[in-house]
Amino acid sequence: MATLPTTERVSGEDGPQPSAKLETTLANGTLVRVEVMGPSDSEAIATRALAAASLEVARGGVAPRPSEPPSSYAGIVGAAAPMRDLCRLLQRIRGSNATILITGENGTGKELVARALHDQSTRTGKRFVATNCSAFNDNLLESELFGHRRGAFTGAIADKPGLFEVADHGTFFLDEVGDMSPALQVKLLRVLQEGIFLPVGATEQRKVDVRIIAATNRDLASMVARGTFREDLFYRLNVVSLHVPPLRDRIDDIPLLVQHFLDRLSKRDGRTKTLTQRTLARLMEHAWPGNVRELENEIERLWVLSGDDALISDDILSPSISRRTAGGPAVQPKTAPAPSLPTPKSLPEAVAALERRMIVEGLRRAKGNKTRAAEELGISRRNLIRKVQAYGLEGSSGRGPRHPNRDEP
Ligand SMILES: Nc1ncnc2c1ncn2[C@@H]1O[C@H](COP(=O)(O)OP(=O)(O)OP(=O)(O)O)[C@@H](O)[C@H]1O
Ligand SMILES: [Mg+2]
Repeated sequence: MATLPTTERVSGEDGPQPSAKLETTLANGTLVRVEVMGPSDSEAIATRALAAASLEVARGGVAPRPSEPPSSYAGIVGAAAPMRDLCRLLQRIRGSNATILITGENGTGKELVARALHDQSTRTGKRFVATNCSAFNDNLLESELFGHRRGAFTGAIADKPGLFEVADHGTFFLDEVGDMSPALQVKLLRVLQEGIFLPVGATEQRKVDVRIIAATNRDLASMVARGTFREDLFYRLNVVSLHVPPLRDRIDDIPLLVQHFLDRLSKRDGRTKTLTQRTLARLMEHAWPGNVRELENEIERLWVLSGDDALISDDILSPSISRRTAGGPAVQPKTAPAPSLPTPKSLPEAVAALERRMIVEGLRRAKGNKTRAAEELGISRRNLIRKVQAYGLEGSSGRGPRHPNRDEP
């Protein structure tokens, strides 16, 4: 168990009053006080030092490597309870080559977790290959995954290896696996069970040794119940499952994440900037439907818009953040669902509000694809279209902010 000092002074024993002074009682009962002198980002430094101490105790005294930023594990920043649980689980399965299913909303950090799993496995020196199953139609995805032989289809002018071959001896990360067609699900199951597949247009099977990590923002168990996802594939993928919690369930991590993104931008641009307390408070009140990716984009936006100012004030926050937080509660309840509707007065109104909300969320999960959203909601596509019109939701794809390098349709 680590021995922690009861008081930790980050800099300066004498002289003027500290510019930031924070204290907390750790899980082992130790009172830690951090005082930071001088720098303009003293509050952030103090917050990070406290979070590092908490994490050290939570991990049973395993000191973080000095080169690692505090409160992060394998590049995953977070000290809130659900993130500590996730990192503990990651530590427990380090070195394993088991198939893993990562679940979580868009932008929560599923790919980051997949990379951490690869980096801490015995395959770390080998390739980590990632693809997004929703970015291709069925034929293209088959060719992308399994490769093709020359002449297999119009335009196939040469043999092309599939990503499973590229990832041989390494890790293959299959993002949005819930979007795979039933025909491809069968082929994926074969790779998982026997490591074999048939490239498009080939007559000979190929064998590979690939660790598969899959991710989804959909509820695969209910897709299995509805018959839209193969049960055998679900169990084969779900050997170990990891859930990455939405950002609204770990608002305590927002200051750490903000600092992490500011540090990255600071390294890139060779200058430092800090958020005012008010800006940070506003960020902590937001519901973050786009999760960490939305926060990352917002910090970069604030960084750019603040120009030469070293202090980032709340008047340049995105309108969606200012609007939603303006006049709202100081801090949203941790379980608060994203944008809420006025409280309905009657049962039919309540039913309509719930229906509307489910449709908006279904469309968001399906990235605006009505066929898929209807399937997931258990209604016909025609019925969904009627309801979308009735609720005035035309044009609502429910898309959150996207990754700038992502080539999704
Ligand atoms: N805990 C975290 N610490 C640091 N950065 C994070 C964290 N979580 C997410 N990010 C960053 O947020 C961005 C989105 O993360 P990532 O792509 O892993 O999310 P995702 O769940 O795979 O998203 P999607 O569902 O849209 O595919 C990335 O730039 C990632 O580095
Ligand atoms: Mg992803």
